[in-house]
Amino acid sequence: MIRPAELIERKRNGEELPADALAELVLAYARDEVPDYQMAAWCMAVYFRGLSAAETFALTDAMVRSGETLDLRSVLGRRVVDKHSTGGVGDKTSIAVGPIVAACGVPFGKMSGRGLGHTGGTLDKLEAIPGFRVELTTEEFVAQVREIGLAIVGQSGDLVPADKKLYALRDVTATVDIVPLIASSIMSKKLAGGADAIVLDVKVGDGAFMKTVEDARTLSEVMLELGRRAGKEVVCLLTDMGQPLGSAVGNALEIREAVETIRGEGPPDFTELVLDACARLLALSDLGVDLAEGRRRAEAVAADGSALAAYERWVRTQGGDPSLDALERAPVVAEVVAERDGVVVDLGALAVGVAALELGAGRRAKTDAVDHAVGVVCRAKRGTVVSVGDVLAEVHARSGDAAAAAVAAVGDAYAIGDEPPRPRDVLLDVVS
Ligand code: URA
Repeated sequence: MIRPAELIERKRNGEELPADALAELVLAYARDEVPDYQMAAWCMAVYFRGLSAAETFALTDAMVRSGETLDLRSVLGRRVVDKHSTGGVGDKTSIAVGPIVAACGVPFGKMSGRGLGHTGGTLDKLEAIPGFRVELTTEEFVAQVREIGLAIVGQSGDLVPADKKLYALRDVTATVDIVPLIASSIMSKKLAGGADAIVLDVKVGDGAFMKTVEDARTLSEVMLELGRRAGKEVVCLLTDMGQPLGSAVGNALEIREAVETIRGEGPPDFTELVLDACARLLALSDLGVDLAEGRRRAEAVAADGSALAAYERWVRTQGGDPSLDALERAPVVAEVVAERDGVVVDLGALAVGVAALELGAGRRAKTDAVDHAVGVVCRAKRGTVVSVGDVLAEVHARSGDAAAAAVAAVGDAYAIGDEPPRPRDVLLDVVS
């Protein structure tokens, strides 16, 4: 039997812990046999001392073993691909990627999370669709992927319960932004979900956990190594979160933008990321296509309406109304206007994310309700040339007071200068 206090002390002193002791600690924590205060102390020791590659794998493997695992490959008789994002502002990528990939004939079954803090969650966005059910049983989830090739649902409580508990603890003990803990949290969920190949969208910038490309590369290398040890193919896309992704930030607003993108009418940066992620998923699938052919097929299904048809079929199957007219609209819409001529040199993702959160689009605590209608639409992005009085952004709010506060905050997120900023692609690097 392990003694948690001893493992905390050994980690605090910089020792590498044996795999079996570490696994026992995590599994005992998941069974409520180790209290939160000891696990929190251990996480803080990891913050200062780190984990070796062997420890990170032992932790990930134990987290996978803490609950049930899915074997979608056997059920579908197909190679299974999955994607995950480390979280950002305006990140509705999965909602556009799923229907495009499914329309190309590759099954897409994904378990997603809710938003916390300034980053939104896919489940909250999907719940902006009237009637949409995110809570399916594992059996319903698997059956839906088999029958219509597409399902996005909340993570079953039976899958990686250790991560659910540990993530909630990390969230309130300043131990979220630790590379091996982020890597094991993400990869344990992907491995338990049964994917053969995984595309990981690692966000970089002030709106993301990883603030620099170097940090994002470090996280990517750790996740790649975890994938390698588990026999899975992993590709990490390092993508820009120095400004919000696309234009819309806020649940119903983001659904609208995802659908426009599925129709081939989305904003350029978001469209590029969606098509690139789809191309990589298709190239990793059992279709036997390369990246260029994957890209061509993704563009084709967006152009010919089959991706939109896949979206509508999916939403109806999960009980939702796919019509954009069904999405709730906020009662107050106010404009943020340019106070000078020039070019947008900066648009802080974090500031826009926090403004959307204050409007009610996100939650500060797990129990907070989300207002699906409110948010921000950034009409001007980095590099847009503007004249005084031009609309930079729209704020969608529940009240005039909330709108006024958000207009001021979003206005402050914009910096307008004389010289165009250095162009920065949405896709910064690929690590594989
Ligand atoms: N996303 C996760 O799923 N886990 C983390 O620890 C951080 C981001």
